[in-house]
Amino acid sequence: MRFEVFTLFPQVFPPYLETSILKRAKENNLLEVNLHNIRDWAEDKHHTTDDTPYGGGGGMVMKPEPIYNAINSVLGIPPACPLILLTPQGETFTQQKAEMLSKIPRLALICGRYEGFDERIRQHLITEELSIGDYVLSGGELPALVIIEAVTRLIPGALGDPDGAFDDSFGSGLLEYPQYTRPPEFQGWQVPAILQSGDHSAIHRWRRDQALLRTLQKRPDLLVSAELDKADLTFLKQVIKESVFPIPDSIINIITQRED
Ligand code: ADE
Repeated sequence: MRFEVFTLFPQVFPPYLETSILKRAKENNLLEVNLHNIRDWAEDKHHTTDDTPYGGGGGMVMKPEPIYNAINSVLGIPPACPLILLTPQGETFTQQKAEMLSKIPRLALICGRYEGFDERIRQHLITEELSIGDYVLSGGELPALVIIEAVTRLIPGALGDPDGAFDDSFGSGLLEYPQYTRPPEFQGWQVPAILQSGDHSAIHRWRRDQALLRTLQKRPDLLVSAELDKADLTFLKQVIKESVFPIPDSIINIITQRED
């Protein structure tokens, strides 16, 4: 997987890219991140990359020429790979989106700064816009790192454990079941007995039920599209019947009417 990152602040990337899973993925040639400083393609002697907006108003806007020149020089025009612009206006980045992106061998991420980009970049060059959530950051650098990490985790071999990404929250369409490690008792707080029983099929069922329970409690919307078998539906219907915590009516209706 190759990322071409266009940014005014390339220096923020290496410390994170040189740590843990991303570092190992790079060392194993599963990940390549090329950093391109947009300022290097500015056309004036002061290397200006922003200017005041036409029509007045506060703030500065990223000029089109340095970004265009940078893209042209690295990827050509039309660009050799999809160009993703990071902005709060984009489609929300999700695990499903990460899975789609992980199948594309080369991606360009364009990090904005200031109040935004000259609209012509968006109109004429960009393949798609992505946001990492409904809040405004000072630039696209952290969102780019978020995307690089979420996508790299999905590359086969990037995580030590081959099931790692599948067991994650969202990987299976459900939130992750609770995890425990030694000691079996800490401050009087016990690890559930079943996890210490050695009964693998009972542990498997318990984990699945816990994942269903958590998803129902915290993110019931995910159950609408999760793959659920007969045992899952029986468990969920029982939880709904016992009504231990409030569940939205819309979710109750979907689950109680669903056949496996
Ligand atoms: N740039 C500024 N805020 C952002 C966000 N939430 N997502 C993506 N890019 C951004």
